[in-house]
Amino acid sequence: MIITVDGPAASGKGTLAKKLAAHYGLPHLDTGLLYRGVGYLMMQSGHALDDAAMAARVAQELDLFKIDQEHLRSDEVGEAASKVAAIPGVRAALLKLQQDFARQPGGAVLDGRDTGTVIAPDADVKLFVTASPEVRAKRRHIELAARRTPVEYCAVISDIKKRDERDSERSIAPLKPAPDAVLLDTTDLDIEAAFRAAIEIVEAPRAGRTRP
Ligand code: C5P
Repeated sequence: MIITVDGPAASGKGTLAKKLAAHYGLPHLDTGLLYRGVGYLMMQSGHALDDAAMAARVAQELDLFKIDQEHLRSDEVGEAASKVAAIPGVRAALLKLQQDFARQPGGAVLDGRDTGTVIAPDADVKLFVTASPEVRAKRRHIELAARRTPVEYCAVISDIKKRDERDSERSIAPLKPAPDAVLLDTTDLDIEAAFRAAIEIVEAPRAGRTRP
């Protein structure tokens, strides 16, 4: 079974995807880490983030195992990721790896922005996870404080809105629900309630019900 979980920054899609993968015993790929890896390496080596040829080369040679994942989690790297993710050569370089992951025997869970539309359009279940920008910013704000990198709430919400806009309005693989994706709004749900709702969505076809 292939499950895709797409949605904007801090919607809860990563946590949900991880929990779904554990529940069904499937491998999980956080596709955002690939773009974060490219953004991070571009920043580290001092290349301009709009240097398309260099970014594509970095993407072709990307080896995530060589990067300490802690370096990839910051908002600064998220912002860089969203810039390099709009470069067609970067997306092309990362496509096969993601498709191969999705098509492995037994299936997989992938989360990102285009996993249901571009990477695995034939996925068995597609979730599109959303939440209001205010709630997403609040979650992110708490997460950053816990990681001892406190940032003002107004800076967090402004970053989230900027990233939403860039990810939704780019011409290649924009953030949008696949036509057959099920929307899951987690604005008023905690993680356990969101997980129960996600399981219902996955199980609905098996139980002969239409998806909520
Ligand atoms: O999900 P995460 O916040 O880690 O993603 C970082 C950035 O990577 C996103 O803002 C988006 O621009 C890009 N991305 C993408 N396609 C994906 C996953 C992430 O363009 N499938």
